[in-house]
Amino acid sequence: MKKVGTTVLALLLGSSAWAAAPKSTPALLEKGKTSYARNCLACHGETGDGNGPTGQYLNPKPRDFKTGQFKKGNKPEEIFNTITTGLPGSTMVPFTGLPEDERWALTYYVLTFQPAKGKAAPKKDAPPAKGKK
Ligand code: HEC
Repeated sequence: MKKVGTTVLALLLGSSAWAAAPKSTPALLEKGKTSYARNCLACHGETGDGNGPTGQYLNPKPRDFKTGQFKKGNKPEEIFNTITTGLPGSTMVPFTGLPEDERWALTYYVLTFQPAKGKAAPKKDAPPAKGKK
């Protein structure tokens, strides 16, 4: 599965785009924020929790960006790819109409919702055992 995905990705992106991951800068994030409000907020919500005005009624629900778990991966390249190809079978459509730099801006903006590394690990393995076994 992983392999197929990579092949498709290579075909989609051709030789050039893949290497072009820009650095995240304040200006890029600002651009991402503007674009997010226009293109993503209705579903993913202002705080990135997936409870936007439209998002709350969808099934499957939009991803909660704050939980940190993405089906297709959390690396910038993977998020960029998700924005570019969408998620088939859901209302997450491909945003190929947006220029590449805007999709990168969105990628980094989405990442700002993620829990900081090391902090807020999503759930400990199990609650401490109550009483005796
Ligand atoms: C019409 C509603 C809608 C809009 C608009 C929308 N999304 Fe989504 N998005 C979804 C849904 C629904 C899912 C979860 C799909 C699933 O679980 O299969 C999702 C999932 C995602 C994911 C997680 C993918 C993964 O691997 O888990 C990312 C990242 C994402 N969207 C980014 C964006 C960005 C960036 C925009 C704006 C350019 C955007 N979405 C606009 C509905 C939307």
